[in-house]
Amino acid sequence: MSGTVLLTGGAGFIGSHTYVALLEAGYRVVIVDNFSNAARDVPDRLAQITGTQVVAYDVDVSDAAALEAVFCTHSIDAVIHLAARKSVPQSLASPQGFFNSNIAALLSLLRVMEQHQVKTIVFSSSATVYGAPEALPIPEHAPLGYTNPYGLSKLMGEQFLNQRTRRGQGWATGILRYFNPAGAHPSGLIGEAALSDGGNLMPMVARVAKGQLPGLTVFGSDYGTPDGTGIRDYIHVCDLARGHVLSVGHLLQRGRSHTVNLGKGAGYSVLDLIKTYEQVSGQKIPFRFAPRRAGDVAASFADPSMAQTVLGFRAEHDLLDMCQSSWRWETNSDPCWHPKSADHHRYTAAIPVSQRMDLSH
Ligand SMILES: NC(=O)c1ccc[n+]([C@@H]2O[C@H](COP(=O)([O-])OP(=O)(O)OC[C@H]3O[C@@H](n4cnc5c(N)ncnc54)[C@H](O)[C@@H]3O)[C@@H](O)[C@H]2O)c1
Repeated sequence: MSGTVLLTGGAGFIGSHTYVALLEAGYRVVIVDNFSNAARDVPDRLAQITGTQVVAYDVDVSDAAALEAVFCTHSIDAVIHLAARKSVPQSLASPQGFFNSNIAALLSLLRVMEQHQVKTIVFSSSATVYGAPEALPIPEHAPLGYTNPYGLSKLMGEQFLNQRTRRGQGWATGILRYFNPAGAHPSGLIGEAALSDGGNLMPMVARVAKGQLPGLTVFGSDYGTPDGTGIRDYIHVCDLARGHVLSVGHLLQRGRSHTVNLGKGAGYSVLDLIKTYEQVSGQKIPFRFAPRRAGDVAASFADPSMAQTVLGFRAEHDLLDMCQSSWRWETNSDPCWHPKSADHHRYTAAIPVSQRMDLSH
């Protein structure tokens, strides 16, 4: 494969793994990230993993002028757009601000792309666009909906891209609806930062295993599932990263737009995840049951057949792989790694960031 991919949010959880997968596939990659939810040393970690110099810009995607400068500096063939805020609780607390930042960033990006005649884009959507699913497994043609402003921002993002695809004029768009990304790179050098307000289950379980939280709250023990707890479709982040490589390759080679689920097609319960994490970490994970949360569904898992047919994609890793790699990352990572850590700035001041160029000032 050849070509230069602009990877927004490339210092984040999914972005950093996608960076590695793109490089392994032969692409040149330019990262744009405002480091609002990523540690400043991620580019150095990526350089360590790949053995190559990382080009990363400290730029907010909604800053059209700064983005424009990046497009003028590099000849971009395609964009993979991952940069977004993803915290559902934050989106409920401040819908307008959250919505503005996710949508403003996408619109600014699309404008700059249009100016530079770059019309190939992969967009990170989410299974959240299915709202409360009516049937399982969930195919791409299932009814769409949303249960929070985060979900609405993803639905709107899809619509902006679909409008362009329908318009023709050379647009090729890949909409990837992720189920529940988990796990980490086998090196243990990159992984997911737990959001302070909760968020994904595995980083929270890891924090309990590490003794940073006293225990876990499991919402709902009376669902109609084998053990009574909610079932979700967890997909290893390295599988997910490979899905992006296949999607952008498909767009660049065939110019055919697609919307596909990226999931395993099978679910694991909350208790499955806790037990497997206990097994790999050797730590007891205390938990207590609480009533179901409003908006949560008993089970959600993908029909992954479209991704296999269109992209030849199949998720390979199982829950054990996800927990093992997550634990390796969690036990390797410095507590200062987390972007919201008070020590973060002291830490980044001490690390070499010579390969990181900053066009934002
Ligand atoms: N992780 C999940 O469970 C999940 C599930 C479905 C969809 N998604 C979507 O996948 C994408 C990546 O998620 P992630 O888990 O890697 O999140 P993340 O927070 O780890 O990564 C997002 C990255 O984007 C950066 N960023 C945010 N807003 C930006 C902006 N305006 N300009 C520049 N950089 C910005 C952050 O600093 C961060 O590095 C997001 O769009 C998210 O909504 C994630």
